[in-house]
Amino acid sequence: MGTEETEANPHIPRILVTGASGFIGGRLVEKLSSSRRYKIRCLTRRADTLKERFSGDDVEIAQGDAGNYYNLVDTLSGVDVAFYLIHSMEGSASGFAKFAGRDKLFAENFARAATECHVSRIIYLEELGTGRNEDLSHHMWSRRRVGNILAKSTAKLTVFRASSILGKGGHLFEMLRYLVEKLPLLLCPKWVLNKTQPISVDDVVTYLAESVASKETEGKIFDVGGPETLSFFEMIERYGRIKGKQTRVAVTPFRTPRLSAYWIDLVTPVKASIARPLIDALQHDATVRDNSIRQLIPIKLKSFEETVESIAGEPEGKAKTTQIHPDKTLLYSLFALEVLMIPYVATTAFLGLSNIPWILAVALWYLGVAFAIHFIDYGAKLGTLSAGIIGPLSITLWITSDIEQRRQLILITGATVLYNTLEIDLSILAAVLAAASVWALLKTKVTHTTTTELP
Ligand SMILES: NC(=O)c1ccc[n+]([C@@H]2O[C@H](COP(=O)([O-])OP(=O)(O)OC[C@H]3O[C@@H](n4cnc5c(N)ncnc54)[C@H](OP(=O)(O)O)[C@@H]3O)[C@@H](O)[C@H]2O)c1
Repeated sequence: MGTEETEANPHIPRILVTGASGFIGGRLVEKLSSSRRYKIRCLTRRADTLKERFSGDDVEIAQGDAGNYYNLVDTLSGVDVAFYLIHSMEGSASGFAKFAGRDKLFAENFARAATECHVSRIIYLEELGTGRNEDLSHHMWSRRRVGNILAKSTAKLTVFRASSILGKGGHLFEMLRYLVEKLPLLLCPKWVLNKTQPISVDDVVTYLAESVASKETEGKIFDVGGPETLSFFEMIERYGRIKGKQTRVAVTPFRTPRLSAYWIDLVTPVKASIARPLIDALQHDATVRDNSIRQLIPIKLKSFEETVESIAGEPEGKAKTTQIHPDKTLLYSLFALEVLMIPYVATTAFLGLSNIPWILAVALWYLGVAFAIHFIDYGAKLGTLSAGIIGPLSITLWITSDIEQRRQLILITGATVLYNTLEIDLSILAAVLAAASVWALLKTKVTHTTTTELP
């Protein structure tokens, strides 16, 4: 900037990547930087995190918030091409409801600042949604409105529309991975049958990066999708086949996007506010209607299998998730409760005190604890939720059961020594363990990961 362009000193375009800490933006910065054709500036609200990741001379990190117009003017000054990859679906469930307002504010600030800074191009990535505005979900409608607002700037706008973007650390892939790898049975709403064209994040990033040098893409809207048309149901089946997992899927006649998002939140570490737009995007078929980008930027698109294969070779990513960090006592106390229950169950059966409802209750209790341990172990909310029910329930059962009968049972078991020498009633020990699980549950931390770490 400020330097006169000459033959010996040619103008090197300066590119701004917003959302550079995100799933797509992070990869785009790497791609643009590796081409060595541009100077790159990244906008982030957390400059320290990004400075660790992009330390090359050609990448400059700018601290700023899209909600602040003056931050954007500073960041956009001297920029030729700006990528708009900001996503405002974050925060708590109540904050999520305000996303459309944030989307609008950020886009208005950006369009105004781009005009003031004489930015020549804006490149925006939008969700692919078929249909008119009134058919779109609130989220998709809001994203489309962002495109319309950006189009009001004096910069020429290029819009890419993609539906299911697959890559390690991406929310859709994380959702798919957890559902297939962790659950043997899935009860899915009807939207899983809608058709989409899943595309590898690498291919999306190639389109974005190549469009900078492609004048023909200026002022146009392009649909981008992978080479195959698949439903989420088919993705589950194919991913399961690749991973050698058998996931049984039952499809219900209901759509229930809100309920689906809460269910995903419970059984996978993907947050409801993140799952919701992904599910919204799958409420209708979302396939490519205009393939013109394939002539302008001809690339060999990865198939679903090739995408999964390339993901397997990448280091672990971190999607924006709700991570449960249970106090280890929770796992230990639940496990110890299960072990402790064995002599109790055995002696009750031995004394002929068991009957069908009793056997069912014990089986259910065991299943419940095993279920809680399984889900806690991989950080899904459902684990702590089940532990939150089982812990207090166990305490209540121990406290309300017949003390004399309990002692009689315990004396017959191998716990006699423990009882006689230490005068510890195993029932009391079990109650203590159940209480420990409740205590550990209260100590459980929930973090909302907001960074996406990728290669
Ligand atoms: N992922 C998909 O499947 C998909 C599909 C179609 C379209 N898209 C679109 O592609 C874009 C990028 O998606 P993504 O999945 O990469 O998103 P992401 O991983 O959730 O990243 C979102 C980015 O938005 C930035 N951001 C949020 N609020 C901001 C603010 N107030 N000021 C400045 N930056 C802010 C964050 O930057 P900091 O936290 O560093 O500030 C973060 O890097 C989004 O616009 C999305 O709608 C995504």
